Amino acid sequence: MVTLTINGREFSGASGQTLLNIAQKAGIDIPTLCHSHAVSDYGACRVCLVEVEKRNRKRLVTACLYPIEEGLKVATDSERVIKVRKTIIELLLARAPDSNDIKELATKYGIEASRFRDVTETSNDNCILCGLCNRVCAEVVGVDAISLVNRGTRREVALPFYDETNDCIACGACSYICPTKAIQMKDTKEIRTMIWPNSKADFKMQQCESCGVHYAPVKQLEYIALKSGLSVSEFNNCPDCRH
Ligand code: SF4
Ligand code: FES
Repeated sequence: MVTLTINGREFSGASGQTLLNIAQKAGIDIPTLCHSHAVSDYGACRVCLVEVEKRNRKRLVTACLYPIEEGLKVATDSERVIKVRKTIIELLLARAPDSNDIKELATKYGIEASRFRDVTETSNDNCILCGLCNRVCAEVVGVDAISLVNRGTRREVALPFYDETNDCIACGACSYICPTKAIQMKDTKEIRTMIWPNSKADFKMQQCESCGVHYAPVKQLEYIALKSGLSVSEFNNCPDCRH
């Protein structure tokens, strides 16, 4: 077991756990945007930064990536942490000014407006480039249909070769996990439309042969059939009519 202090209180945890794991278990509030238990951590948003002290040296680290260490002293709300975190939130607010989630975080930290302006060259509406969408697609769904591409001010979320018909199965995992709701999923009767920050695509829904309801994207069902070894015809009926 590893023992450390957070805000002056002693905690212990198993080697390999992160500062965020320990803090969250203890009910200590550290904001996060690009962290999800469902996927690996990537350290993109930086709002989870905390101050660690080791051998009388203090530095700022991201709590979601930093593994706990014996004797470490951690401050989650020091003056320095709050000052830098507020600047990060202002930068995020400049990038995603219409995101209610970012606005709520800004309000919590007493930020009324950002001093910065967005210098990105892409139209990543509300996208903060946190990378949750591409990680859930690759690590959980296993499809890898969406990526973060380009560098610097041209960085953006995109489908491979900007081709909406490529690998996406319209499962909607990216939309569910996006912390700023920058990815939308709209279902009409026969069509599911996926709307990413820079593109959109329509996907045909499977109609149940028995009750006529349109219940899931055809491409998603084909993918499940492929992965499970079931015949595609197994999905001709919706779950309610299958039994
Ligand atoms: S679209 Fe959403 S999940 Fe994907 S990188 Fe942008 S903010 Fe993150
Ligand atoms: S939650 Fe840690 S860097 Fe985003």
